[in-house]
Amino acid sequence: MCGIVGCFAETGCYERVLAALERLENRGYDSAGIALTADGRLSVRKKKGAVANLCGAPLAGRAGIGHTRWATHGKPSDENAHPHVAGKFALVHNGIVENHAALKAELLAAGETFASETDSEVIVKLIARAYKGDFFSAVAQACARLTGAYAVAVLCTDFPEEIVCAKNKSPLIAGAGCGAAYVCSDVPALCGAAAYVCPAEDGEFIHIRGGEICFRRADGSPAEKVFTRLTEAAGAVRPPRGSCMEAEIAQIPQGLARTLGWLRGCDFAPAARALRSAGRVFTVACGTAHHAAQAFGALLSREARIPVLCETASEFRYGDPLIGQGDVLVAVSQSGETADTLEAVRLAKARGAFVIAVTNVEQSTLARLADLPLRTVAGAEVAVAATKSYNCQLLALFYLAAQTVFYKRACFPSWFAALGAAADACAGALEGAADAETLAARLQTARALYFIGRGTDRFTAAEGALKVREIAYVFAESCPAGELKHGTLALVEEGFPVIAVATGRALLQKTANSLAEAKARGAFTVLFSQYADAAGGADVFCPLPALPEPLMPLVSVIPLQQFACRMCLLRGFDPDRPRNLAKSVTVE
Ligand code: F6R
Repeated sequence: MCGIVGCFAETGCYERVLAALERLENRGYDSAGIALTADGRLSVRKKKGAVANLCGAPLAGRAGIGHTRWATHGKPSDENAHPHVAGKFALVHNGIVENHAALKAELLAAGETFASETDSEVIVKLIARAYKGDFFSAVAQACARLTGAYAVAVLCTDFPEEIVCAKNKSPLIAGAGCGAAYVCSDVPALCGAAAYVCPAEDGEFIHIRGGEICFRRADGSPAEKVFTRLTEAAGAVRPPRGSCMEAEIAQIPQGLARTLGWLRGCDFAPAARALRSAGRVFTVACGTAHHAAQAFGALLSREARIPVLCETASEFRYGDPLIGQGDVLVAVSQSGETADTLEAVRLAKARGAFVIAVTNVEQSTLARLADLPLRTVAGAEVAVAATKSYNCQLLALFYLAAQTVFYKRACFPSWFAALGAAADACAGALEGAADAETLAARLQTARALYFIGRGTDRFTAAEGALKVREIAYVFAESCPAGELKHGTLALVEEGFPVIAVATGRALLQKTANSLAEAKARGAFTVLFSQYADAAGGADVFCPLPALPEPLMPLVSVIPLQQFACRMCLLRGFDPDRPRNLAKSVTVE
């Protein structure tokens, strides 16, 4: 969630930290801050709100740290903004210190005072108290007292060319090249700034000394590491006009074409073999990625006759799941850094399961943890709400399902051809933007919306509802169409919008019946389908381009993404920075 960065550079350190923070801003925009050290003193600038609020003359120094905040402890404010300072030290932190209350009580009893309500400030106080002239060991001693997740970068005025960083469970990556040494919480922050990257493992420290980057263990001994070339596509580039979200929806066909190219070059035999011979198959993911995983699970069960249990990662990890040797876990995550998903994967691995991961960030923690990483090549996704990454996840997962069925039954060539045509079908779906716009104009003042669907359409419905909630701030829920009459129908009154997605011929009439039941109670009904003959009963019919039915989630979500985005804009909000949210949820 929060983004952290550290940089040593002979020249332009302040500008480099600021540029990295701009690339990290979708990780949290509650506040931003920078500190540099030079001439035995710290210069700190921090402000509530966006990175743009840090304007002013560059701060002096060759070592600097920066932070974009997504508030966990303490409201968004100047005081709670990082860096936090104690004596000679300034610190930025991503994560949650779970024992902060006990540590704070101890520090208060020892006479310390606190300037913020954050959990992070206790870390810098502990460092200052542990300091006896050895910067590294003060940080190591303080971190030994923390429980929870953290990645920290620390400056000390006695060592103006050094940054000491530590991590446990939160991501921390070193970057080198282009005349600077970096450390940061997210690989995309280094795109265009560093040529080589190397992630730290839990318990490792990164010690930047001048231009030199050393990985060390807690006892100070060096850890051997290998840097690899930074392969991520150029990071967060804002379009000249409009929002990132609109641009990213428009990029779906290109993302699918790139992802397909990657998938075609990939050897699926080990993944297909693992899935075919698995005792049990699980999927874990969060939010949008969970909807993609659910669509995959339904497809694999139905077509490959392999039962799949799809669980949100946060529930899986605490549910003492029945997973072990011979089982397969498929983890799905755009960022590859979502804390709940990573913990679920660690648990599955510890119990001996085989892990397949689908992620959009090749050098992410998830890709490194997986036995078999698969890629989506959606390109950098800057908008907080996931769009193009979802379509690419569906493509990669459906391709994996097709390969599994193919290896099992030596059939399915028609699916491969259809997956090859998905990019064109999605380009066709994008042309329906006018329908989404008209619908958004009609519903922009709605107080609540319901999305319904059957089969895999219910996951598309769930994704549509999530998008509307998170960026348009309208209460939106989804339910399987057949469940409407089991309770939710009680909400329906005159004008209440019920939006159905129906892409399966066999269930079309059933969904139409559910819409009719809602309409009979006064609902305003909308139907998205590729079958025009189903249009009759709904107040509004929005046609979809056709793909083979099992692959329809790839296209049917697009008008819902467009609808949510238009609703958001018409209601006067910024789709790229939804309130209370941030991209890459690295805390529990
Ligand atoms: C919704 C959204 C979130 C993410 C979720 C998982 O638009 O973006 O629900 O899908 O936080 O993120 P990743 O895929 O990075 O694990």
